[in-house]
Amino acid sequence: MKLFIDTANIEEIKDAYSLGIVSGVTTNPSIIAREGKKFEDAIAEISAIVSPETLIFGEVISLEADKMVEEGRAINKIRPNMIVKIPTCKEGLKAVSILSKEGIKTCCTLCFSAGQALLASAAGASYVAPFVGRVDDIGWTGMELIQKIADMFAIQEAPTQIVAASTRNPIHVIDLALAGADVATVPYKVLMQMIDHPLTKSGLDKFLKDYEKIPK
Ligand code: E4P
Repeated sequence: MKLFIDTANIEEIKDAYSLGIVSGVTTNPSIIAREGKKFEDAIAEISAIVSPETLIFGEVISLEADKMVEEGRAINKIRPNMIVKIPTCKEGLKAVSILSKEGIKTCCTLCFSAGQALLASAAGASYVAPFVGRVDDIGWTGMELIQKIADMFAIQEAPTQIVAASTRNPIHVIDLALAGADVATVPYKVLMQMIDHPLTKSGLDKFLKDYEKIPK
């Protein structure tokens, strides 16, 4: 399972990217708004940090298919590995099917059911983004959704990849890997939580202390 970082914060992207563990950056309008920059400027700054192979996801904000298509084409032109995020709704599916026929890679976002994921794949989406955390938030089990989509895509040999989104903690990320998600997009804070372990810290402290005792 690949790891993407779910932020548009330059310092967070720089730090996570320097570890060599992330191969994509996902954004949505809320994430971009948090940085107080224009969408194009935020994407340009991210592009300057990451390698050309790194995927960057940018989301359309239009509600009609023809406008989504226009926006999607514009987003796709920003850089070669730009993925266009489009909501999984009637107009969104229409836009995805048009863009995918033009060879533009899309990601059906705001996916909350296996049925929506199946339709996203049928429309030609390269990626589908089911939201684990937001399903948990309403008292359902987000991970069951991911498991179902992963099983369904495996049986159908669907080419669409699952970018599991709305991850809130390290357990989510581990369970996503076990459920068969292709990608987990993870906030910076969760990536750091995955790295830190009190036994690693205390073990390192002891090794360094004992090293001082070795005759030099
Ligand atoms: C992906 O970019 C999604 O939009 C994002 O993971 C949603 O996360 P949230 O539910 O924590 O807002």
